[in-house]
Amino acid sequence: MNQSLPFHIYFFLGLLPFWILCTSSTNKCVVTHERADCSHLKLTQVPDDLPANITVLNLTHNQLRRLPPANFTRYSQLTILDAGFNSISKLEPELCQKLPLLEILNLQHNELSHLSDQTFVFCMNLTELHLMSNSIKDIQNNPFQNLKNLIKLDLSHNGLSSTKLGSQLQLENLQELLFSNNKINILRPEELDFLGNSSLKKLELSSNPIKEFSPGCFHAIGKLFGLSLNNAQLTPSLTEKLCVELSNTSIQNLSLSNTQLYRTSNMTFVGLNHTNLTMLDLSHNNLNVIENESLAWLPHLEYFFLEYNNIEHLFSHSFYGLLNVRYLDLRRSFAKQSISLASHPKIDDFSFQWLKCLEYLNMEDNNFPGINSNMFTGLIKLKHLSLSNSFASLRTLTNETFLSLAQSPLVTLNLTKNKISKIESGAFSWLSHLQVLDLGLNEIGQELTGQEWRGLENIVEIYLSYNKCLQLTSSSFALVPSLRRLMLRRVALRNVDSSPSPFHPLRNLTLLDLSNNNIANINAELLEGLEKLEILDLQHNNLARLWKHANPGGPVHFLKGLSHLHILNLESNGFDEIPAEVFKDLFELKSIDLGLNNLNVFPPSVFDDQTSLKSLNLQKNLITSVQKNVFGPAFRSLSNLDMSFNPFDCTCESIAWFVNWINRTHTSISELSSHYLCNTPPQYHGFPVMLFDVSPCKDSAPFELFFIINTSVSLIFIFIVLLIHFEGWRISFYWNVLVHRILGFKEIDRQPEQFEYAAYIIHAYKDKDWVWEHFFPMEEKDQTLKFCLEERDFEAGVLELESIVNSIKRSRKTIFVITQNLLKDPLCKRFKVHQAVQQAIEQNLDSIILIFLEEIPDYKLNHALCLRRGMFKSHCILNWPVQKERVNAFHHKLQVALGSRNSIH
Ligand SMILES: *[C@@H]1O[C@H](CO)[C@@H](O)[C@H](O)[C@H]1NC(C)=O
Ligand SMILES: *[C@@H]1O[C@H](CO)[C@@H](O)[C@H](O)[C@H]1NC(C)=O
Ligand SMILES: *[C@@H]1O[C@H](CO)[C@@H](O)[C@H](O)[C@H]1NC(C)=O
Ligand SMILES: *[C@@H]1O[C@H](CO)[C@@H](O)[C@H](O)[C@H]1NC(C)=O
Ligand SMILES: *[C@@H]1O[C@H](CO)[C@@H](O)[C@H](O)[C@H]1NC(C)=O
Ligand SMILES: *[C@@H]1O[C@H](CO)[C@@H](O)[C@H](O)[C@H]1NC(C)=O
Ligand SMILES: *[C@@H]1O[C@H](CO)[C@@H](O)[C@H](O)[C@H]1NC(C)=O
Ligand SMILES: *[C@@H]1O[C@H](CO)[C@@H](O)[C@H](O)[C@H]1NC(C)=O
Repeated sequence: MNQSLPFHIYFFLGLLPFWILCTSSTNKCVVTHERADCSHLKLTQVPDDLPANITVLNLTHNQLRRLPPANFTRYSQLTILDAGFNSISKLEPELCQKLPLLEILNLQHNELSHLSDQTFVFCMNLTELHLMSNSIKDIQNNPFQNLKNLIKLDLSHNGLSSTKLGSQLQLENLQELLFSNNKINILRPEELDFLGNSSLKKLELSSNPIKEFSPGCFHAIGKLFGLSLNNAQLTPSLTEKLCVELSNTSIQNLSLSNTQLYRTSNMTFVGLNHTNLTMLDLSHNNLNVIENESLAWLPHLEYFFLEYNNIEHLFSHSFYGLLNVRYLDLRRSFAKQSISLASHPKIDDFSFQWLKCLEYLNMEDNNFPGINSNMFTGLIKLKHLSLSNSFASLRTLTNETFLSLAQSPLVTLNLTKNKISKIESGAFSWLSHLQVLDLGLNEIGQELTGQEWRGLENIVEIYLSYNKCLQLTSSSFALVPSLRRLMLRRVALRNVDSSPSPFHPLRNLTLLDLSNNNIANINAELLEGLEKLEILDLQHNNLARLWKHANPGGPVHFLKGLSHLHILNLESNGFDEIPAEVFKDLFELKSIDLGLNNLNVFPPSVFDDQTSLKSLNLQKNLITSVQKNVFGPAFRSLSNLDMSFNPFDCTCESIAWFVNWINRTHTSISELSSHYLCNTPPQYHGFPVMLFDVSPCKDSAPFELFFIINTSVSLIFIFIVLLIHFEGWRISFYWNVLVHRILGFKEIDRQPEQFEYAAYIIHAYKDKDWVWEHFFPMEEKDQTLKFCLEERDFEAGVLELESIVNSIKRSRKTIFVITQNLLKDPLCKRFKVHQAVQQAIEQNLDSIILIFLEEIPDYKLNHALCLRRGMFKSHCILNWPVQKERVNAFHHKLQVALGSRNSIH
């Protein structure tokens, strides 16, 4: 709590400027370049503080009642004024006077009801005038007379009952006149003759209750190229009259969508015989019957829209005469379900033979029973055919199914959603020009032997995704080496690990989609040699094992050699390990998707060759740490990163580099504040990664050094303390020895004859019997050997301490007979020992011999006498044997110890 408090304060302080900006901008227009956007500001007045040089002013969605010309004096440079969606009910002529450069005036959705001759009199430069959705019921005189440059005039959604906009010729440059959604019910020549000098590209009269076309109505217009009468209740008879009126006009585009034209006869379009009509829209008409030869009057027609109708039977001559149609839309044109007959719509053989120029035929979403042997015969220019969802059930594609397309230079064929269950050998052998074959979303379940594709010499793309079950063999694609794109998504693909690989012949392959197949077994040669492959989709499979360290034979490097790979998708494969070399040499990778896996640790350098990566997706993995040595190369030129929903560890070591990078980069990272949250340490749980404070991490290098030095010093200190504690005696002992040596206390290596005694024997009083028993016989045996035994040799009357010092000095060696008694002897303790050791240090370490009569632990020895076994040579330490038979050996050892020179060597 104490820690988060300052953060909150900073947070609010940081937001303060934004808050001020936001509140003040509720009354402020946004000005960018020379455009001012003042929309949605609840304005009741025109702002007077915008830059005077603006050319576009957007005042839409406000509460303006008027546009007072005086308020626009300042904005004389305006070319576009959008005042739509206000409550403007009156327009002053002076407005245009103040805006001499105005070209577009938009007043849609206002309350204008009356336009006078003066209203637009100064709007000479206007090219577009939008008056849609006002309350203009009728127009008197000639309000638009002066609009000599007007190109588009929109008067739709008003209450107009007539097309009459003036009594004199005008609007000679008008191209689009929009009258849709008015109350016009009759077209009269005298109400259109003000357009006598105009060439209208589009006359929009849709959604009007038109009941009558008076003779000559369209001839009153200078030239009429396009007419829309959608959503008018024309019926066949009125359509026929319309076409008669259009006869000998310039009409090219005619839209009659949703006009209740439920039937066409050989008379319906006869009036269009003397036109150059190129586009006809008859969609959404519930059209049931196209009588034979009823379209024969449309020889210039190129674009024919018949979608969403109800044709039950297409006769052999229904399309007779449509010899120039290039584009025919028959989507949902036929009866979906014939309730009365409970039968399927019918297409007569040879029905399309008249369409000699047809290039594009769309027959999607129909319910045909099947493909007749001559259904498409005669379509000698057909390039694109879509039969998606066209058949109730196509089941088996045989070598005869597409016979009628043999003459067509078909390039694309869409057969999706037709319940196809089997493709027989040679089914497409007629389609040697075919480049794109779409067989997706069917129920194909078979082994692909390769014969299915026989004859597809120019095929580029086969889409087989979303089928029932496909079993591969090594020859599945042997006959289509030209293939560049192959999609096999969610087809329960089997035998992907066939050898040689099913994809081996596809040397031109650039896209391979094997996703959603639950593939678990592939081998390293699967994609071998596919050097042109650019896009590889392997998401939603089960490839985790292949990258595991523990995989028998090691990780499978199935991406090896794909040197042109651009996009790689490996999402949702359960990967929890990633081999260090897996992306090696994939220099052209632009996008890697490894999202929805279980990856935690990335080997350093795994992305080293991905320096041109643009997009990296690692969302929903188990990433805790984002390190420079792993992600540095991949992040270099990245434009998109998704690492959301990972359990980030918000510590300096784990994410400091990442947070620094985030704060500097231009890479787009969406939902950064909400989907990138710390998981650990506990005090940061749920805290946005981007707000992690990296300032304490900044000095981490010096800090680390300090840390290392500090720890080392501590460790050395502890080591020394321990050393001194346990081995201090040894150090001080040898230190003493060393000091003596250095200060010149040369080893006093006197000759044996210089000593009075061979050894001074230190023992406890209680042990005197043992000493007599063992040393006396030795003296007797060897006459040259003389021990200094306190009880025997000390001169009477001499102070004991002094005599001890003298005796030790006159003895060549000092023997300690160590027993528990000795340890308890007060005199022995310290004094004798100190003397002896002092002597030993001055003379030689060899001069002390320890004889242990019983087992004494080292620590007790040290505690009582400040001696340790470790101070002496091993041959100077003797143990009195328990076994009798070893006593001789002991004596021998003792003699060796006594005889050894007083030397360290
Ligand atoms: C328009 O005026 C603004 C200041 O009001 C100025 O910064 C800008 O450069 C001007 N633009 C042009 C094209 O003169
Ligand atoms: C004015 O703003 C509205 C709403 O923001 C927008 O729909 C309209 O296209 C804009 N007009 C112009 C001329 O940019
Ligand atoms: C707009 O003009 C009216 C007079 O026509 C004037 O009263 C008003 O102050 C002006 N408003 C602005 C914002 O210039
Ligand atoms: C129309 O605009 C041009 C500049 O594009 C200008 O010279 C001319 O005066 C304007 N016409 C009117 C009537 O203001
Ligand atoms: C229209 O068809 C009828 C027979 O259905 C025929 O009698 C008539 O001559 C045809 N009219 C034209 C103009 O072809
Ligand atoms: C249709 O036009 C052609 C020539 O364009 C003409 O020969 C034919 O007589 C016309 N038919 C009718 C019924 O007007
Ligand atoms: C149709 O086009 C031809 C040539 O393009 C032209 O001569 C003829 O006048 C046009 N017919 C109509 C009715 O405009
Ligand atoms: C179609 O295949 C059958 C054998 O399945 C064969 O008898 C027939 O001749 C083939 N038809 C064509 C047109 O190739």
